[in-house]
Amino acid sequence: MRPYDNEKLPRHVAIIMDGNGRWAQARNLPRVEGHIVGIESVRDVVSATRELGIPYLTLYAFSKENWVRPRDEVRKLMELLGIYLDKELPLMLEKDIRFNMIGEMKDFPKKLQEKMHSVMRKTARHKSLTLNLALSYSGRQEILHAIISLFEDVKKGSIKKINEHVFKKYLYTGTTPDPDFLIRTSGEMRLSNFLLWQMAYTEIFVTKVFWPDFRRKHYISALREFCKRERRFGRVEDID
Ligand code: FPP
Repeated sequence: MRPYDNEKLPRHVAIIMDGNGRWAQARNLPRVEGHIVGIESVRDVVSATRELGIPYLTLYAFSKENWVRPRDEVRKLMELLGIYLDKELPLMLEKDIRFNMIGEMKDFPKKLQEKMHSVMRKTARHKSLTLNLALSYSGRQEILHAIISLFEDVKKGSIKKINEHVFKKYLYTGTTPDPDFLIRTSGEMRLSNFLLWQMAYTEIFVTKVFWPDFRRKHYISALREFCKRERRFGRVEDID
């Protein structure tokens, strides 16, 4: 028996990777150790997503609000991001994974910006999986940014009609389909300013497992749960 119904798998999974700090504190380790082990979970989930043929995965790695964390933690997270990109690029090239950063690129140190641009360029034509990494991301900022860009185009006369379909293209996620499934680790019941426009009809799954412990088996079991959900998008069930 297959552990899930391939037909019903989501096309786009979004994940709030939460609980790295608490995972480390519970082991009397510095918080950064949670982020280091959390990268292993990222690896596991990315490869499972690719193997299952799910074409879009969006990971919330660093919010616009996270910059006020202790300087050392932020510095270490930036360092880990650089290491992650260097280390994962060969796999992205081999496995046809497209890397896409969503968020405020200008907030990052110049060198890291260059690295992100370079990985995005090198993987731009890949089709099997689009990996969106939300960095210095804020859902409200994204919506504001979209409104400002849309307004510019209206002034230029290149946009005549505004509707949801047109507006969506101005978001960082562009033409990416909206997430079908949101997973949040560590038990918190919040959206935390993540993909606010895109998640209007997303199915939500919260697990108490901390992100560094969240591996393939947890992911598969969350996806199984998704396959059982009935999605109505505001409609009622068909009545014969
Ligand atoms: C939330 O845990 C996690 C983060 C703010 C960072 C997520 C980063 C990683 C998984 C590693 C870096 C990822 C890549 C792709 C390079 P928290 O620190 O808020 O945990 P807490 O709520 O227990 O304090």
